[in-house]
Amino acid sequence: MSRRKVFATHKLFEEPRRLLTQHFDVEFWEEEERPPRAEVLKRVAGQDALICLLTEKVNDELLDAAGPQLRMVANVAVGFDNIDVPACTRRKIVATNTPGVLDETTADFAWTLLMAVARRLGQGEALARSGNWRGWSLDQLCGADVWGKTLGILGFGRIGKAVARRSQGFGMKVIYNDAVRASGDAEKELRAEFKTREEVLAEADFLSLHVPLLPDTRHLINAESLQRMKRTAFVINTSRGPVVDEAALVGALEARQIAGAALDVYEQEPKIHPGLVGRKDVVLAPHLASASVATRTKMALIAVNNVIALFAGQKPATALNPEVL
Ligand code: DGY
Repeated sequence: MSRRKVFATHKLFEEPRRLLTQHFDVEFWEEEERPPRAEVLKRVAGQDALICLLTEKVNDELLDAAGPQLRMVANVAVGFDNIDVPACTRRKIVATNTPGVLDETTADFAWTLLMAVARRLGQGEALARSGNWRGWSLDQLCGADVWGKTLGILGFGRIGKAVARRSQGFGMKVIYNDAVRASGDAEKELRAEFKTREEVLAEADFLSLHVPLLPDTRHLINAESLQRMKRTAFVINTSRGPVVDEAALVGALEARQIAGAALDVYEQEPKIHPGLVGRKDVVLAPHLASASVATRTKMALIAVNNVIALFAGQKPATALNPEVL
């Protein structure tokens, strides 16, 4: 029997790549640059499975281009707002994501951003490298303390909780809001207090966002919510770009309604709002929160193992639409 065909829109890491090629006839996108849309549409035609990144929009157009053979779309990301899951379900295509393996790495990075923006690391690094540093001075690049402050978390799933856990070493008070309140045990363990979203906005010194991108969370942070925040507060976003209205954020920074922001994700990646790029009170990263070799390898392995499981007649571990199985 001929082997199943898989198109992977990335070359993947060594271990998942080897595993995938052991089982399937695989076409990898080998270039560093992401594939142009037309190339994805062309290469997905006639494949049995697609392994894709969050940069690929999996919608009717792509599924039509793939044709009736396609049985699985395995996203190498936990967020799956790039995938039209109902469109996959209508075609009995299993869609999968990669939950569970990137929580700690992402939480580490949320803290990296938090510390960097509080302590003006971006500006300090630029000065240290510039050749213009004239030496220590009492008021040079003084930032905000983190220790003992209030950490506000919107979205208290696995990543939000991992961020909260790290705050204990900084003696912080943790307040959070989520559509679902955490268990009493979790609140106790993390010393986290449930508050309304408005209370979290008003009381946080650092506001860290960990909600998925849904119609309800698009522009969750907008002009109105920014107005509720303290003038000394910082926004940290490692969730999805459209959770923050970037134009409103630029406006709030210009008006000094908040003290700064640290962002890993953007509304129109890889474009970044020009009003953010030149600002000294923001720290900008290029969507790196889960980017450790170990974690990205684990993410790719989940995707590969999902494809293997499906064609071995087993249940993929992280199906988003298990009803089609
Ligand atoms: C995800 O998995 O959704 C992140 O944004 C990339 O790791």
